[in-house]
Amino acid sequence: MKNKVLVTGGAGYIGSHVVRQLGEMNYDVVVYDNCSTGSPTSVLHGELIIGDLADTEHLYQVFAKHQFSAVLHFAASLSVPESVARPLDYYANNTRNTLNLLRCCSVMNVNQIIFSSTAAVYGEVGENPVTESTLTSPINPYGRSKLMSEWLIQDYAAASSLRYVILRYFNVAGAEPGGRLGQISLNATHLIAAACNAALKRKSAMQIYGTDFPTPDGTGIRDYIHVEDLATAHLDALRYLEENGESQILNCGYGQGYSVRQVIERVKAISGVDFPVIETDRRPGDPACVTACADKISKVLGWLPLYNDLDKIVHTSLAWEMSRVCSLSLGLTSNALSPSCSLAPGISAAITGQPKRLYSSHIPDYWNVATFHELYPFIYLGLLDKLQSVRSKIFKD
Ligand SMILES: NC(=O)c1ccc[n+]([C@@H]2O[C@H](COP(=O)([O-])OP(=O)(O)OC[C@H]3O[C@@H](n4cnc5c(N)ncnc54)[C@H](O)[C@@H]3O)[C@@H](O)[C@H]2O)c1
Repeated sequence: MKNKVLVTGGAGYIGSHVVRQLGEMNYDVVVYDNCSTGSPTSVLHGELIIGDLADTEHLYQVFAKHQFSAVLHFAASLSVPESVARPLDYYANNTRNTLNLLRCCSVMNVNQIIFSSTAAVYGEVGENPVTESTLTSPINPYGRSKLMSEWLIQDYAAASSLRYVILRYFNVAGAEPGGRLGQISLNATHLIAAACNAALKRKSAMQIYGTDFPTPDGTGIRDYIHVEDLATAHLDALRYLEENGESQILNCGYGQGYSVRQVIERVKAISGVDFPVIETDRRPGDPACVTACADKISKVLGWLPLYNDLDKIVHTSLAWEMSRVCSLSLGLTSNALSPSCSLAPGISAAITGQPKRLYSSHIPDYWNVATFHELYPFIYLGLLDKLQSVRSKIFKD
């Protein structure tokens, strides 16, 4: 077994993918999460401690019980509009709770931290691609609360033996190809999740905010990074710190942008569903184009992305959202079907273009030759009764 690490927010979207990869690399993992937006079913490895970072006494107890070599700090609140409406909650959960964590690290002599930061610290970007030395000038409380957390980490590191890797994520998307992990939020506002939900008829239409940007097709351009590659960057960062690497701030993106129209076109093509799209005005503060300069992370960490392809991001997102639909149709409250049930990975495999037979003794024959296009009408046009009968069979065993 390798070192023991603490993962705050490890039951959430990105943290759960990192926890799974840490498990595969044989790390001893303790997840600390209040499950406000995450789910216990997303923690596929290690020990989950339900707790809040605001509860400093509990946090100290956890640090005292375990000897952590490093902390990976994901726990945060991350909705920009919510941060505008409730700024104090954001400074409390993001900035003050990072301070709580650093105090524990200080008292318990934990001197390695990997922090989840965001491209939102850059604010309105004038030039692309954005490098790590681009001026930081966040335009909302979310971005400011994360930048203040970066400063806390940097200032404390300057006064102690703490070394850090601050990772500034660009647009995170996609899901675990195995179909067990993905974004849980039902009201996902991210473009790719929204388009997948429109393809799956969970939304009647999707909106394009702004078609008059100075970009080739008039819609905004963003740099989408697959969550699996982002998770790998954390393992690379951990290895880097373990090998005594110096503190770093690194962008996490591919350095390549896709427009809103390009994303929608790929979701329509891959799902085979021509869902309605409504074009509307720009939202205030939305820049035309934001792409990362990703040279530094590759150079410093030797990071090698494997999913640098919009189609792979869309395939895994669709597979995940589809398995969510099935879970909900089956009346499950967890984020996905249980890992021991082969339905979700089977559907995932069908949609991700590896048309393996959906295999389970619990699943009736009509599941067993499914491809996405075969499943789609089954699921949306008359299938819920059948799914209910599948459900009762699954739970009888
Ligand atoms: N998702 C993105 O596109 C994106 C982009 C840039 C940066 N980030 C950063 O990545 C990190 C993870 O984001 P995510 O998308 O996985 O979000 P998420 O909401 O899925 O995960 C956050 C996790 O933290 C937990 N949590 C929140 N407050 C807590 C508290 N006080 N104590 C204990 N647990 C708490 C939640 O229950 C959840 O499991 C965040 O720090 C976020 O700012 C995310």
